[in-house]
Amino acid sequence: METADIGMIGLAVMGQNLVLNMADHGYTVAVYNRTTRRTTEFVNGPAAGAAVIGTETIEEFVGRLKRPRQVVVMVKAGRAVDAVLAGLIPLLDEGDIVIDGGNSHFEDSARRVKELRDRGLSFVGAGISGGEEGARNGPSIMPGGDEAAWPEVKGVLQSNGTPCCDWVGPDGSGHYTKMVHNGIEYGDMQVIAEAYHLMRVVLGMDCEQMAGAFRTWGEGLLDSYLVNITADILGHVDENGEPTLERILDAAGQKGTGKWAVISSLDLGYPLTLVAEAVYARVVSSLRDQRFEAAELVGSGVKRADGLGAGFVDDIHDALYASKIVSYAQGFMLLGAAASEYGWNLDYGRIAQLWREGCIIKAAFLDDITAAFRRRPDLPNLILDRFFAEALDKAEPGWRRVVATAVQVGLPVPAYASALAFYDSYRSKRLPANLIQAQRDYFGAHTYERVDRPRGEFFHTDWTRPGTD
Ligand code: 6PG
Repeated sequence: METADIGMIGLAVMGQNLVLNMADHGYTVAVYNRTTRRTTEFVNGPAAGAAVIGTETIEEFVGRLKRPRQVVVMVKAGRAVDAVLAGLIPLLDEGDIVIDGGNSHFEDSARRVKELRDRGLSFVGAGISGGEEGARNGPSIMPGGDEAAWPEVKGVLQSNGTPCCDWVGPDGSGHYTKMVHNGIEYGDMQVIAEAYHLMRVVLGMDCEQMAGAFRTWGEGLLDSYLVNITADILGHVDENGEPTLERILDAAGQKGTGKWAVISSLDLGYPLTLVAEAVYARVVSSLRDQRFEAAELVGSGVKRADGLGAGFVDDIHDALYASKIVSYAQGFMLLGAAASEYGWNLDYGRIAQLWREGCIIKAAFLDDITAAFRRRPDLPNLILDRFFAEALDKAEPGWRRVVATAVQVGLPVPAYASALAFYDSYRSKRLPANLIQAQRDYFGAHTYERVDRPRGEFFHTDWTRPGTD
């Protein structure tokens, strides 16, 4: 009986495309899906003629795999993964490897690494990015977990046309890295959306003009997948020659990975403000009925601003670029915080390279990030790297003009504004937190440190009696 090099459980779009990709690269793949009809349709349809073996039961599936077995699981994150593992694990033998390629939460992956290790199995939590097209032709893969499995799975994970795949680290670090990727993806999409909103409303540009602007930007500092697909989207017309984009309802969905990144940033006490604004911007957009009611009640003040020349498009470019730098600076700070909290030794320059191709946030800009971490591997924040400090300094005047203009005309730019607030806070030698400390001490005797005493000495004042400490 023919045996397979690797198995795939879960034949939704990503699973199917990864199987075809692996088959293209010389691997024989056994496939199993809970609903057999999907397996049959896949094997007789897109996979016809490829080295793909359809199986109808999990026992048959496991029986078709070469040992030590390698099984990729591509099912919905959460309970579905645990359900698949519960059926699969009893059929596996010592040394077998399970790779979860879904968008699992990093804590689930850390737990599964331990659970499988206790049974003599290896678990790899591999974040995979690139959507349908990436899965088919070469995604970005961020594997982490049981490092003993890496030499075994390296071949298949690095060979399937994957431009970017390397070992990230232990536990759930692969899925953590994917989660930060997704948070950054939310931020990148929001900073682009704000540029579109400003061009459309404040400058009154039409879709064709905006497509042109994004196309030009995509050839410069902002060269990236998301900027380039935005140009395509803006340039797309429907059967009547009207821009397709204008017919799309302005209420954004989300599956939750951006939110997870923000929750983790709050847990670790690190700012991920731009991504948080991006998540909330989607939430606010989805409150469409309430937005309409409010607009009727108090009016929608947004107006086109006159007297802004073509230079304002350049200002928007600078606001986008600077905000993007802040967002990545915050994302890498968070990775650093997670690394110290969970004891991971992460190579940040290499992580930037994992995102350089294949994934949704792929961009030329990631090479600059790698270069910054090569210059200083323990760089606490990209803003402290000379290249990025200079880039922010150069972009700052346009960035400020954009935020100020948006505030004046009443157009929301939460990502640009919060990025600017972070930039201004981060380089402030003095913030008003002394007042916060005084208030805390006043109402709760929470104590405070003093500017004229060493850190770690705490003081309390009786605020109702002047002259007392
Ligand atoms: C990727 C994407 C992908 C994500 C979708 C949808 O890297 O290929 O991040 O994993 O699930 O883009 O995400 P939302 O529905 O949350 O926008």
